[in-house]
Amino acid sequence: MKRLLDVLSKLVGEAFASCGYEASYGKVTVSNRPDLCEFQCNGAMAGAKAYHKAPIAIAKEVEEKLKAGPDGEGLQAADRPVWQEVTAAAPGFINLKLHPVFLAQYLCGMTEEEKLGCEMPEVSRTIIVDYGGPNVAKPLHIGHLRSAIIGESVKRICRFMGNRVIGDVHLGDWGLQMGLIMQAVKEKNPDLPYFNPDYTGEYPKEAPFTIGELEEIYPVASTRAKEDEAFCREAHDTTYLFQQGDRGLTALWRHIVGVSVQDLRKNYRRLNVDFDVWYGESDAQPFIPAMVERMRAEGHAHESQGALVVDVAEEGDTKEIPPCILVKSDGATLYSTTDLATIVQRIEEYHPDALIYLADKRQEMHFTQVFRCSRKTGLAADGIQLSYIGFGTMNGKDGKPFKTRSGGVMRLEYLIREIEEAVYRRIMESENRSMEEAEAKEVAAIVGLAALKYGDLSNQASKDYIFDIERFASFEGNTGPYILYTIVRIKSILEKYAAQNRTDPAEDDRAQGRTGVPGDASESVLDCAAGNGRPAIREAETASEKQLQLCLAQFGETMDLAYRELAPHKICQYVYELANAVNQFYHETKILTEPDTMRREGYISLIGLAKKVLETGIDLLGFTAPEKM
Ligand code: ARG
Repeated sequence: MKRLLDVLSKLVGEAFASCGYEASYGKVTVSNRPDLCEFQCNGAMAGAKAYHKAPIAIAKEVEEKLKAGPDGEGLQAADRPVWQEVTAAAPGFINLKLHPVFLAQYLCGMTEEEKLGCEMPEVSRTIIVDYGGPNVAKPLHIGHLRSAIIGESVKRICRFMGNRVIGDVHLGDWGLQMGLIMQAVKEKNPDLPYFNPDYTGEYPKEAPFTIGELEEIYPVASTRAKEDEAFCREAHDTTYLFQQGDRGLTALWRHIVGVSVQDLRKNYRRLNVDFDVWYGESDAQPFIPAMVERMRAEGHAHESQGALVVDVAEEGDTKEIPPCILVKSDGATLYSTTDLATIVQRIEEYHPDALIYLADKRQEMHFTQVFRCSRKTGLAADGIQLSYIGFGTMNGKDGKPFKTRSGGVMRLEYLIREIEEAVYRRIMESENRSMEEAEAKEVAAIVGLAALKYGDLSNQASKDYIFDIERFASFEGNTGPYILYTIVRIKSILEKYAAQNRTDPAEDDRAQGRTGVPGDASESVLDCAAGNGRPAIREAETASEKQLQLCLAQFGETMDLAYRELAPHKICQYVYELANAVNQFYHETKILTEPDTMRREGYISLIGLAKKVLETGIDLLGFTAPEKM
């Protein structure tokens, strides 16, 4: 299905063309003066120079043309009315209002489509989204929260828009942190077979630690390494030995990864975040030697102060972009080497058209270096899109990175619990509470997740934001719970409507009559729903009904934008506007008690479509709505 603005631009473009102007001047946008019109075209002003004419003169000509219609039969296009109002306004705007019949017909088209009016690409692309990025054996903390939340949404958006998308968690399972843990385990249990070079038997199946123990080991070891030089050196040696493929340490490493991944899976499931593959940095290591060798042989890499580097500075850089280091003077490879090798691995395995990375915006330099290096050395062909979404920090109310009350790094689990509790309190305190405690707990889990995710996603990713539980969990305003509340409200109306129809025999007759045949829907100007037994969405009669319809018709545009810019916050803005439009309509319209059957059914179809669009929107953001709240 074509997006609404494209349909309108084409029609206005044709009017420009038949007045003798370039059709491309007919581009229509949503009005920035909603008090005057719904859509506007600024093409007359753009064309004025080229045609040496006053913009208003062009606008007037086009206005006349649009009013006459292509066949001279009024505001028509082929068989249907398009415009309700067309006005040329100084200095050369063309202000447009859509005909309600045209709009209702467009929405009927949307209801027939699974993708609700989004235009699908002719060829789908293969896209890898690299997000989550947790580090093995370190507890998942809120620093990783944004990567998971934003990445999950970006993945869903790309997939919804018709692409083959692979979400990869890209575990941090390789660096010094592994050596630190192994060294700490060794000191505590030196007799374990993993540390005995002469041991040739099988290693135990059971890990020598639980996740709880593992999580305690890392922070202690990491602090100690900063103070205790000998320990630090040993940890480095252990890391080196492990990276050289030591049999015992590799077996121990498997336990660390296994125990850690099990815990990570649980946490991500709780967040409604789901990865297609669980590759780690370690999986890219086998690709390093050949890659480095090629870069050297082809003359891209050169020695600099003992290290092997690739220059990536470019003319016109406004700040210094240091060379990308492949191998340090001591022979060690780095984070960037791993990321480059991961590109090789991904291209070999998936032949992707795009790679999208999510990481803290402080990693921007790293990704600039990696992307430039992979382009320059031909690792990634020019056709492969490389995108980095750098996100800002989640701050506490004091404007500093969010911490627990005692000042420590907040664990994700606790954070989720806090927000669930805030929602739970709100439900229990509500005057017209209709839920028992157990049900309220379940609902609080669903709503709490929405509060958390929406609170994050409604900000542009690159911005820092303030984590404010009370605000995020509020049922009013621009929040996740408000969106859910609106969906629940629609569900309840639809349920009541169904119940009403079940008990009213007169309604039954009519309901049967319309199934599968044009029936009473054909009495409307619209007969688009004749084929599916669903009553048609009717032409809007009030301002709030039209507003709701206009908002719904813009879903395709919103998705196009969110996809092109990889920007979930565009979807948040949209679902918020849509929820407002639904509630405005609800407050001004008697839906269930509307005496005119066709009108009532039209309302039901309209809010049914609104429900579908809202539910699709929140699914793309990565959360769901409860049955009641
Ligand atoms: N593990 C990294 C961190 O915690 C994030 C990984 C991001 N992805 C990547 N391909 N570098 O900072």
